[in-house]
Amino acid sequence: MAKTVLVTGGTGYIGSHTTVELLEAGYDVVIVDNLSNSEKSVLKGIEKITGRKVPFRKVDCGDLSRLRGVFARHPFDAVIHFAASKAVGESVEQPLLYYRNNLVSLMNIIQLMREYNVPNLVFSSSCTVYGQAEKLPVSEQTPRREATSPYGNTKHICEDIIRDSVAAYPGIRSIALRYFNPIGAHPSAEIGELPRGVPNNLIPFVTQTAAGIRPMLSVFGDDYNTPDGSCIRDYINVTDLAKAHVVAVDRMTGDRMKSGFEVFNVGTGRGVSTLEVVRTFEKVNNLKLNYKIVGRRPGDIEAVWADPAYANDELGWKAEKSLEETLRSAWAWQQHLDGKKSE
Ligand code: NAD
Ligand code: WQD
Repeated sequence: MAKTVLVTGGTGYIGSHTTVELLEAGYDVVIVDNLSNSEKSVLKGIEKITGRKVPFRKVDCGDLSRLRGVFARHPFDAVIHFAASKAVGESVEQPLLYYRNNLVSLMNIIQLMREYNVPNLVFSSSCTVYGQAEKLPVSEQTPRREATSPYGNTKHICEDIIRDSVAAYPGIRSIALRYFNPIGAHPSAEIGELPRGVPNNLIPFVTQTAAGIRPMLSVFGDDYNTPDGSCIRDYINVTDLAKAHVVAVDRMTGDRMKSGFEVFNVGTGRGVSTLEVVRTFEKVNNLKLNYKIVGRRPGDIEAVWADPAYANDELGWKAEKSLEETLRSAWAWQQHLDGKKSE
Protein backbone atom coordinates (compact mmCIF):
# COMPACT_ATOMS: atom_id res chain seq x y z
CA MET A 1 0.00 0.00 0.00
CA ALA A 2 1.25 3.49 -0.81
CA LYS A 3 2.56 5.45 2.13
CA THR A 4 0.81 8.74 2.93
CA VAL A 5 2.59 12.02 3.60
CA LEU A 6 0.99 15.08 5.18
CA VAL A 7 2.41 18.13 3.43
CA THR A 8 1.72 21.32 5.37
CA GLY A 9 2.13 24.44 3.27
CA GLY A 10 1.60 22.19 0.26
CA THR A 11 0.09 24.84 -2.00
CA GLY A 12 3.16 27.03 -1.41
CA TYR A 13 6.20 27.32 -3.62
CA ILE A 14 8.38 24.47 -2.33
CA GLY A 15 5.45 22.43 -0.99
CA SER A 16 3.75 22.23 -4.38
CA HIS A 17 6.93 21.06 -6.14
CA THR A 18 7.54 18.52 -3.40
CA THR A 19 3.97 17.23 -3.67
CA VAL A 20 4.55 16.59 -7.38
CA GLU A 21 7.77 14.68 -6.68
CA LEU A 22 6.16 12.65 -3.89
CA LEU A 23 3.24 11.66 -6.12
CA GLU A 24 5.61 10.73 -8.92
CA ALA A 25 7.60 8.60 -6.47
CA GLY A 26 4.42 6.68 -5.56
CA TYR A 27 3.45 8.35 -2.29
CA ASP A 28 -0.05 9.52 -1.46
CA VAL A 29 -0.23 13.11 -0.26
CA VAL A 30 -2.67 15.14 1.82
CA ILE A 31 -2.14 18.90 1.73
CA VAL A 32 -2.92 21.24 4.59
CA ASP A 33 -2.59 24.97 3.93
CA ASN A 34 -4.36 28.07 5.22
CA LEU A 35 -3.77 29.82 1.86
CA SER A 36 -2.18 32.80 3.64
CA ASN A 37 0.54 32.89 1.00
CA SER A 38 -0.73 30.68 -1.81
CA GLU A 39 -3.73 29.93 -3.94
CA LYS A 40 -6.00 26.96 -4.29
CA SER A 41 -5.49 26.99 -8.06
CA VAL A 42 -2.02 25.52 -7.43
CA LEU A 43 -3.83 22.21 -6.91
CA LYS A 44 -4.89 22.30 -10.56
CA GLY A 45 -1.26 22.69 -11.62
CA ILE A 46 -0.28 19.70 -9.52
CA GLU A 47 -3.11 17.68 -11.03
CA LYS A 48 -2.15 18.69 -14.55
CA ILE A 49 1.42 17.51 -14.05
CA THR A 50 0.72 14.28 -12.19
CA GLY A 51 -2.78 13.34 -13.32
CA ARG A 52 -3.68 12.93 -9.65
CA LYS A 53 -6.06 14.88 -7.45
CA VAL A 54 -4.60 15.66 -4.05
CA PRO A 55 -6.84 15.82 -0.99
CA PHE A 56 -6.68 19.39 0.32
CA ARG A 57 -7.71 20.74 3.72
CA LYS A 58 -7.82 24.48 4.27
CA VAL A 59 -6.64 24.42 7.85
CA ASP A 60 -4.37 26.69 9.84
CA CYS A 61 -1.62 24.70 11.58
CA GLY A 62 -2.07 27.03 14.53
CA ASP A 63 -5.58 25.62 15.00
CA LEU A 64 -4.87 22.50 17.01
CA SER A 65 -8.39 21.14 17.02
CA ARG A 66 -8.94 21.46 13.26
CA LEU A 67 -5.50 20.04 12.62
CA ARG A 68 -6.37 17.15 14.90
CA GLY A 69 -9.34 16.49 12.65
CA VAL A 70 -6.94 15.99 9.73
CA PHE A 71 -4.76 13.55 11.68
CA ALA A 72 -7.86 11.69 12.85
CA ARG A 73 -9.03 11.22 9.29
CA HIS A 74 -5.82 10.13 7.57
CA PRO A 75 -3.23 7.61 8.74
CA PHE A 76 0.05 9.42 7.95
CA ASP A 77 3.43 7.76 7.61
CA ALA A 78 5.29 11.07 7.58
CA VAL A 79 4.81 14.81 7.78
CA ILE A 80 6.71 17.38 5.75
CA HIS A 81 6.23 20.68 7.52
CA PHE A 82 6.61 23.62 5.14
CA ALA A 83 3.88 25.84 6.56
CA ALA A 84 5.46 29.01 7.89
CA SER A 85 5.66 32.73 7.30
CA LYS A 86 8.89 33.51 5.48
CA ALA A 87 9.38 37.20 4.69
CA VAL A 88 12.46 38.45 6.53
CA GLY A 89 11.51 42.17 6.45
CA GLU A 90 7.94 41.52 7.58
CA SER A 91 9.26 39.44 10.47
CA VAL A 92 11.22 42.46 11.73
CA GLU A 93 8.03 44.55 11.65
CA GLN A 94 5.74 41.87 13.07
CA PRO A 95 7.85 39.55 15.20
CA LEU A 96 4.94 38.13 17.20
CA LEU A 97 3.15 37.05 14.04
CA TYR A 98 6.28 35.15 13.01
CA TYR A 99 7.00 33.59 16.39
CA ARG A 100 3.36 32.60 16.83
CA ASN A 101 2.83 31.19 13.37
CA ASN A 102 6.11 29.37 12.94
CA LEU A 103 6.58 28.03 16.46
CA VAL A 104 2.99 27.16 17.35
CA SER A 105 2.44 25.41 14.02
CA LEU A 106 5.46 23.19 14.58
CA MET A 107 4.52 22.43 18.19
CA ASN A 108 0.99 21.47 17.13
CA ILE A 109 2.38 19.18 14.44
CA ILE A 110 4.69 17.41 16.89
CA GLN A 111 1.92 17.08 19.48
CA LEU A 112 -0.40 15.46 16.93
CA MET A 113 2.35 13.21 15.59
CA ARG A 114 2.65 11.91 19.15
CA GLU A 115 -1.11 11.54 19.60
CA TYR A 116 -1.53 9.67 16.33
CA ASN A 117 1.75 7.72 16.34
CA VAL A 118 3.20 9.36 13.26
CA PRO A 119 6.95 8.96 13.66
CA ASN A 120 8.56 10.86 10.79
CA LEU A 121 8.97 14.63 10.39
CA VAL A 122 10.82 16.49 7.66
CA PHE A 123 11.34 20.12 8.56
CA SER A 124 12.07 23.10 6.28
CA SER A 125 15.07 24.80 7.76
CA SER A 126 17.29 27.37 6.12
CA CYS A 127 20.88 28.35 5.49
CA THR A 128 19.89 31.51 7.33
CA VAL A 129 20.90 29.63 10.52
CA TYR A 130 24.58 29.96 9.47
CA GLY A 131 24.50 33.77 9.02
CA GLN A 132 27.82 35.04 7.64
CA ALA A 133 30.04 32.04 8.31
CA GLU A 134 33.75 32.53 8.86
CA LYS A 135 34.65 29.66 6.55
CA LEU A 136 33.00 28.86 3.23
CA PRO A 137 31.43 26.66 2.06
CA VAL A 138 29.31 25.83 5.10
CA SER A 139 28.93 22.24 6.23
CA GLU A 140 26.44 20.92 8.76
CA GLN A 141 29.24 21.24 11.34
CA THR A 142 29.54 24.99 10.74
CA PRO A 143 28.29 26.64 13.93
CA ARG A 144 24.93 28.33 13.75
CA ARG A 145 25.06 32.05 14.39
CA GLU A 146 22.69 34.28 16.25
CA ALA A 147 19.83 35.09 13.88
CA THR A 148 19.63 38.56 12.39
CA SER A 149 15.82 38.54 12.01
CA PRO A 150 12.84 37.11 13.89
CA TYR A 151 12.19 34.90 10.85
CA GLY A 152 15.71 33.48 11.01
CA ASN A 153 15.35 33.04 14.74
CA THR A 154 12.20 30.94 14.26
CA LYS A 155 14.29 28.48 12.22
CA HIS A 156 16.86 28.27 15.04
CA ILE A 157 14.17 27.76 17.64
CA CYS A 158 12.24 25.25 15.51
CA GLU A 159 15.41 23.19 15.05
CA ASP A 160 15.88 23.29 18.83
CA ILE A 161 12.25 22.31 19.49
CA ILE A 162 12.70 19.33 17.19
CA ARG A 163 16.03 18.30 18.73
CA ASP A 164 14.55 18.41 22.23
CA SER A 165 11.35 16.63 21.19
CA VAL A 166 13.24 13.83 19.48
CA ALA A 167 15.37 13.41 22.63
CA ALA A 168 12.31 13.31 24.88
CA TYR A 169 9.82 11.36 22.80
CA PRO A 170 11.14 8.05 21.46
CA GLY A 171 8.33 7.81 18.91
CA ILE A 172 9.48 10.86 16.94
CA ARG A 173 12.39 11.27 14.56
CA SER A 174 13.18 14.07 12.19
CA ILE A 175 15.28 15.29 9.32
CA ALA A 176 15.81 19.04 9.01
CA LEU A 177 16.78 20.19 5.54
CA ARG A 178 18.63 23.49 5.46
CA TYR A 179 17.74 24.98 2.11
CA PHE A 180 19.99 27.46 0.42
CA ASN A 181 18.29 29.75 -2.14
CA PRO A 182 15.51 27.85 -3.94
CA ILE A 183 14.74 29.24 -7.39
CA GLY A 184 13.09 28.29 -10.69
CA ALA A 185 9.91 26.41 -11.46
CA HIS A 186 8.67 23.02 -12.55
CA PRO A 187 9.82 22.27 -16.12
CA SER A 188 6.17 22.07 -17.22
CA ALA A 189 5.67 25.71 -16.09
CA GLU A 190 2.40 24.58 -14.45
CA ILE A 191 3.60 25.49 -10.96
CA GLY A 192 6.17 27.96 -9.66
CA GLU A 193 6.70 30.78 -7.20
CA LEU A 194 3.73 33.11 -6.61
CA PRO A 195 5.04 36.18 -4.81
CA ARG A 196 2.45 38.58 -3.45
CA GLY A 197 3.06 42.27 -4.06
CA VAL A 198 6.59 43.48 -4.69
CA PRO A 199 8.93 40.48 -4.51
CA ASN A 200 11.69 40.50 -1.89
CA ASN A 201 13.66 37.71 -3.49
CA LEU A 202 15.97 38.12 -6.43
CA ILE A 203 14.53 35.77 -9.05
CA PRO A 204 10.88 36.86 -8.96
CA PHE A 205 12.13 40.45 -9.13
CA VAL A 206 14.27 39.56 -12.13
CA THR A 207 11.45 37.80 -13.99
CA GLN A 208 8.93 40.56 -13.21
CA THR A 209 11.41 43.15 -14.47
CA ALA A 210 11.96 41.17 -17.66
CA ALA A 211 8.17 40.98 -18.05
CA GLY A 212 7.84 44.77 -17.66
CA ILE A 213 5.89 44.54 -14.38
CA ARG A 214 8.79 46.27 -12.57
CA PRO A 215 10.74 49.01 -14.33
CA MET A 216 14.15 48.13 -12.98
CA LEU A 217 16.00 45.58 -10.88
CA SER A 218 18.18 47.06 -8.14
CA VAL A 219 21.34 45.05 -7.55
CA PHE A 220 22.13 45.54 -3.88
CA GLY A 221 25.81 46.43 -3.72
CA ASP A 222 28.87 45.92 -5.89
CA ASP A 223 31.44 46.69 -3.23
CA TYR A 224 31.48 43.37 -1.39
CA ASN A 225 34.67 41.42 -1.03
CA THR A 226 33.73 39.03 -3.87
CA PRO A 227 35.18 38.67 -7.40
CA ASP A 228 32.63 41.04 -9.03
CA GLY A 229 31.65 42.90 -5.85
CA SER A 230 28.06 41.56 -5.67
CA CYS A 231 26.81 39.04 -3.07
CA ILE A 232 27.20 35.32 -3.53
CA ARG A 233 24.52 32.69 -2.89
CA ASP A 234 23.91 29.02 -3.59
CA TYR A 235 20.88 28.93 -5.91
CA ILE A 236 19.18 25.55 -5.84
CA ASN A 237 16.60 24.44 -8.39
CA VAL A 238 13.25 23.96 -6.67
CA THR A 239 12.64 20.58 -8.31
CA ASP A 240 16.03 19.35 -7.14
CA LEU A 241 15.14 20.63 -3.68
CA ALA A 242 11.76 18.89 -3.84
CA LYS A 243 13.51 15.59 -4.63
CA ALA A 244 15.64 15.94 -1.49
CA HIS A 245 12.39 15.72 0.50
CA VAL A 246 11.39 12.49 -1.22
CA VAL A 247 14.79 11.00 -0.41
CA ALA A 248 14.46 12.18 3.19
CA VAL A 249 11.02 10.54 3.53
CA ASP A 250 12.36 7.34 1.93
CA ARG A 251 15.20 7.32 4.45
CA MET A 252 12.90 7.78 7.43
CA THR A 253 10.20 5.35 6.38
CA GLY A 254 12.90 2.85 5.34
CA ASP A 255 14.47 3.02 8.83
CA ARG A 256 17.81 4.19 7.53
CA MET A 257 18.42 7.14 9.84
CA LYS A 258 21.66 7.14 11.83
CA SER A 259 20.19 9.13 14.71
CA GLY A 260 16.82 10.50 15.75
CA PHE A 261 17.55 13.97 14.38
CA GLU A 262 19.57 14.51 11.25
CA VAL A 263 20.39 17.77 9.51
CA PHE A 264 21.37 18.16 5.87
CA ASN A 265 22.44 21.09 3.75
CA VAL A 266 20.49 21.23 0.51
CA GLY A 267 22.47 23.27 -1.95
CA THR A 268 24.48 22.87 -5.11
CA GLY A 269 27.91 23.59 -3.64
CA ARG A 270 28.37 26.40 -6.13
CA GLY A 271 28.42 30.06 -5.14
CA VAL A 272 26.98 32.40 -7.76
CA SER A 273 27.02 36.19 -7.62
CA THR A 274 23.99 38.41 -8.15
CA LEU A 275 25.54 39.87 -11.29
CA GLU A 276 26.27 36.38 -12.59
CA VAL A 277 22.57 35.54 -12.11
CA VAL A 278 21.60 38.66 -14.06
CA ARG A 279 24.01 37.90 -16.93
CA THR A 280 23.04 34.23 -17.11
CA PHE A 281 19.34 35.09 -17.07
CA GLU A 282 19.87 37.50 -19.98
CA LYS A 283 21.91 35.01 -21.94
CA VAL A 284 19.77 31.89 -21.62
CA ASN A 285 16.52 33.76 -22.23
CA ASN A 286 17.96 35.97 -24.92
CA LEU A 287 16.81 39.27 -23.46
CA LYS A 288 18.14 42.40 -21.80
CA LEU A 289 17.33 43.16 -18.22
CA ASN A 290 16.96 46.71 -16.93
CA TYR A 291 19.09 46.91 -13.83
CA LYS A 292 21.14 49.34 -11.81
CA ILE A 293 23.60 48.95 -9.00
CA VAL A 294 22.40 50.51 -5.77
CA GLY A 295 23.66 50.47 -2.19
CA ARG A 296 23.81 47.39 -0.02
CA ARG A 297 20.59 46.00 1.42
CA PRO A 298 20.71 46.17 5.24
CA GLY A 299 21.08 42.72 6.76
CA ASP A 300 22.43 41.05 3.61
CA ILE A 301 25.31 38.72 4.14
CA GLU A 302 28.22 38.87 1.71
CA ALA A 303 28.52 35.27 0.67
CA VAL A 304 27.22 31.83 1.53
CA TRP A 305 27.19 28.54 -0.27
CA ALA A 306 26.81 24.93 0.80
CA ASP A 307 29.14 22.07 1.20
CA PRO A 308 26.58 19.47 0.09
CA ALA A 309 28.95 16.46 0.57
CA TYR A 310 27.02 15.03 3.51
CA ALA A 311 23.70 15.14 1.64
CA ASN A 312 25.39 13.75 -1.48
CA ASP A 313 27.05 10.82 0.34
CA GLU A 314 24.62 10.04 3.10
CA LEU A 315 21.24 10.91 1.56
CA GLY A 316 22.29 9.91 -1.92
CA TRP A 317 20.88 13.18 -3.22
CA LYS A 318 22.61 15.64 -5.51
CA ALA A 319 21.52 18.84 -7.22
CA GLU A 320 21.29 18.04 -10.91
CA LYS A 321 19.93 21.02 -12.76
CA SER A 322 22.19 23.76 -14.07
CA LEU A 323 21.73 27.45 -13.32
CA GLU A 324 20.99 27.96 -17.02
CA GLU A 325 18.15 25.44 -17.10
CA THR A 326 16.79 26.80 -13.81
CA LEU A 327 16.74 30.40 -15.02
CA ARG A 328 15.01 29.30 -18.20
CA SER A 329 12.34 27.60 -16.09
CA ALA A 330 11.88 30.77 -14.01
CA TRP A 331 11.25 32.80 -17.16
CA ALA A 332 8.91 30.18 -18.63
CA TRP A 333 6.88 30.31 -15.40
CA GLN A 334 6.68 34.11 -15.50
CA GLN A 335 5.41 33.91 -19.08
CA HIS A 336 2.86 31.29 -18.06
CA LEU A 337 1.59 33.66 -15.34
CA ASP A 338 1.44 36.61 -17.72
CA GLY A 339 -0.41 34.47 -20.28
CA LYS A 340 -3.00 33.55 -17.65
CA LYS A 341 -3.53 37.20 -16.74
CA SER A 342 -4.28 38.18 -20.32
CA GLU A 343 -6.63 35.22 -20.90
P1 NAD B 1 5.45 29.72 0.68
O1 NAD B 1 4.98 30.91 1.41
O2 NAD B 1 5.30 29.68 -0.79
O3 NAD B 1 4.78 28.40 1.27
C1 NAD B 1 4.39 28.30 2.62
C2 NAD B 1 2.94 27.86 2.64
O4 NAD B 1 2.53 27.70 3.99
C3 NAD B 1 1.99 28.87 1.99
O5 NAD B 1 1.18 28.21 1.05
C4 NAD B 1 1.17 29.41 3.15
O6 NAD B 1 -0.14 29.73 2.75
C5 NAD B 1 1.23 28.25 4.12
N1 NAD B 1 1.09 28.60 5.54
C6 NAD B 1 1.76 29.56 6.23
N2 NAD B 1 1.37 29.53 7.51
C7 NAD B 1 0.47 28.53 7.64
C8 NAD B 1 -0.28 28.00 8.71
N3 NAD B 1 -0.21 28.50 9.95
N4 NAD B 1 -1.11 26.96 8.47
C9 NAD B 1 -1.23 26.43 7.23
N5 NAD B 1 -0.55 26.90 6.17
C10 NAD B 1 0.29 27.93 6.38
O7 NAD B 1 6.99 29.50 1.11
P2 NAD B 1 8.07 28.50 0.52
O8 NAD B 1 9.12 29.30 -0.15
O9 NAD B 1 7.43 27.38 -0.20
O10 NAD B 1 8.70 27.99 1.89
C11 NAD B 1 8.32 26.76 2.48
C12 NAD B 1 9.14 26.54 3.74
O11 NAD B 1 10.53 26.57 3.40
C13 NAD B 1 8.94 27.63 4.79
O12 NAD B 1 9.00 26.99 6.06
C14 NAD B 1 10.14 28.51 4.60
O13 NAD B 1 10.50 29.18 5.79
C15 NAD B 1 11.20 27.50 4.23
N6 NAD B 1 12.33 28.07 3.46
C16 NAD B 1 12.08 28.78 2.32
C17 NAD B 1 13.14 29.32 1.61
C18 NAD B 1 12.90 30.15 0.38
O14 NAD B 1 13.79 30.91 -0.01
N7 NAD B 1 11.77 30.03 -0.29
C19 NAD B 1 14.45 29.12 2.05
C20 NAD B 1 14.66 28.37 3.21
C21 NAD B 1 13.58 27.84 3.92
C1 WQD C 1 19.57 36.97 -3.06
C2 WQD C 1 20.65 37.94 -3.50
C3 WQD C 1 20.47 40.16 -2.57
C4 WQD C 1 16.73 41.18 -4.55
C5 WQD C 1 16.44 35.13 1.71
C6 WQD C 1 16.28 34.93 3.19
C7 WQD C 1 16.79 33.57 3.59
C8 WQD C 1 16.17 32.47 2.73
C9 WQD C 1 16.21 32.79 1.28
C10 WQD C 1 14.32 31.49 3.86
C11 WQD C 1 21.14 38.81 -2.35
C12 WQD C 1 20.30 40.18 -4.07
C13 WQD C 1 17.86 40.51 -4.14
C14 WQD C 1 16.88 42.34 -5.34
C15 WQD C 1 19.27 42.04 -5.28
N1 WQD C 1 14.79 32.29 3.03
N2 WQD C 1 19.10 40.92 -4.49
N3 WQD C 1 18.15 42.72 -5.69
O1 WQD C 1 18.56 37.34 0.99
O2 WQD C 1 19.87 35.35 0.11
O3 WQD C 1 17.82 35.00 1.39
O4 WQD C 1 15.72 34.11 1.03
O5 WQD C 1 14.82 30.88 4.74
O6 WQD C 1 16.49 33.41 4.93
O7 WQD C 1 17.04 35.93 3.87
O8 WQD C 1 17.63 35.89 -0.89
O9 WQD C 1 16.55 36.32 -3.04
O10 WQD C 1 16.38 38.06 -1.23
O11 WQD C 1 18.56 37.70 -2.36
O12 WQD C 1 20.40 42.45 -5.60
O13 WQD C 1 15.92 43.01 -5.71
O14 WQD C 1 20.11 38.86 -4.46
O15 WQD C 1 21.27 41.23 -2.15
O16 WQD C 1 22.52 38.93 -2.48
P1 WQD C 1 18.55 35.99 0.44
P2 WQD C 1 17.17 37.02 -1.90
